[in-house]
Amino acid sequence: MTELLLATNNGGKAREIQTILHHLGIEDIKILTLSDVHLSGFAVEETGHTYEDNATLKAKTLADKTRHLTIADDSGIEVTALGHKPGVYSARYAKGSDTDRCHKLLKELEGKEDRSAKFVCVIVYIDPHGNERHVFHGECKGLIAPALQGTHGFGYDPLFVPEGYHQTMAELGSDVKDQISHRAKALQAFATWWKGHKKVHET
Ligand code: IMP
Repeated sequence: MTELLLATNNGGKAREIQTILHHLGIEDIKILTLSDVHLSGFAVEETGHTYEDNATLKAKTLADKTRHLTIADDSGIEVTALGHKPGVYSARYAKGSDTDRCHKLLKELEGKEDRSAKFVCVIVYIDPHGNERHVFHGECKGLIAPALQGTHGFGYDPLFVPEGYHQTMAELGSDVKDQISHRAKALQAFATWWKGHKKVHET
């Protein structure tokens, strides 16, 4: 069993990642959270201007500090009619709660016809011993709903209707989200690489 530290304080993300890895048949990884390494609440300032920069910053800081194999993700929502904003700044788009940020998005989209958007996720893996870094990408396309709907998930899930569906992520729930989300896609890429990487290390 390999322990892999997940550099996030977002409980929603940690649960999602654990479940998705299980669905992908990765049974030899035990995800450690920041609380497992006595660093609950430890926050790395996200000063990068790209998802990859921020994910690298989070993973590298925690890998250097703990010497564990570490992954971090950085993600956001990109809305076409807003010039692909808020993107990498999604978490700081408005002060307050996730609901406040959803309401701001709806307000900015008032009167705009194009409701298309996508969730983007970048996962960075760092091995502090081998000085290895690997980057994995995932996207999920969809539309912004006219109002918040549903109670599952987190962040912008109550506003996001994925392509091919008629309900928001927050209505569809984790069974669907864990198959189609940007994070699931990036984790699928990670899982494919991990299976090959493990083979190389076993031979
Ligand atoms: P960060 O990756 O921790 O910087 O957060 C990214 C921002 O995008 C947060 O405000 C999240 O609410 C939002 N976000 C990222 N992934 C998701 C998702 O799966 N559903 C809804 N919102 C998300």
